[in-house]
Amino acid sequence: MELIILPDAATASRSAADHLAALLIKKPTAVLGLATGSTPVALYRELIKKQRTEGLDFSGCSSFNLDEYVGLGPDHPASYRRFMQENLFAEINLPLSRVHIPDGLAKDLPAHCDAYEKSIRDAGGIDLQILGIGSDGHIGFNEPTSSLGSRTRLKTLTERTRADNARFFPNPEDVPHHVITMGIGTILEARSISLLAFGASKAAAIAAMVEGPITAMVPASILQTHPAVKVFLDDAAATEPSKIDYYRNVFAQKPSWQQW
Ligand code: PGA
Repeated sequence: MELIILPDAATASRSAADHLAALLIKKPTAVLGLATGSTPVALYRELIKKQRTEGLDFSGCSSFNLDEYVGLGPDHPASYRRFMQENLFAEINLPLSRVHIPDGLAKDLPAHCDAYEKSIRDAGGIDLQILGIGSDGHIGFNEPTSSLGSRTRLKTLTERTRADNARFFPNPEDVPHHVITMGIGTILEARSISLLAFGASKAAAIAAMVEGPITAMVPASILQTHPAVKVFLDDAAATEPSKIDYYRNVFAQKPSWQQW
């Protein structure tokens, strides 16, 4: 894991956007794994800006989102389909025909999840997966105790995650109990991963992910086994790991030939 610790979320999001843009320039047909929640919003704004000011071209890309609430249709204000449309897709030239988001209204959920896995494989696999992290260490909606080998499937949210996400709904009780999420095994197959986390509320989860034992109790800890993970943090999310001075020094001393 490479920790990139920058003073604030805006600077860290710009750095994550630079990294994604470098991939896209090298591989215009890149398959992107995308995430929702508050964390990636600034990254998406940076990508929109890059398209407008630098001509960053998404026309050859495909995308797969991590998850969706069961029972919410694409027009529901809290659905992740709508979130992606408003925060990214409406503003960039990624063809909607190559956008994939689990269907929260699918009639046959297991068949839909299997088909989602197949479409990731058919697209050639994910080149870069964007991730946030839950305050409980979840990635996607793989809650603590999820199988570390899990595939796209139905999950039941913890009450903690429902409370964390209640801000997107008019009433806390409106947060669905069920979601479709890529599995941890699915996420681990991405060729590279950028995880972003900002703010003190993520500090404990980040320390457990980076330095704790690999355990299903902290699903993000499995990323220790992945060979190409970059972790973009602001100072506030990077207070707890014991080797934080070392991680800062690794980044400060990074050889120029190794950039991105
Ligand atoms: P957040 O969610 O970006 O809204 O904090 C992150 C997550 O739950 O993965």
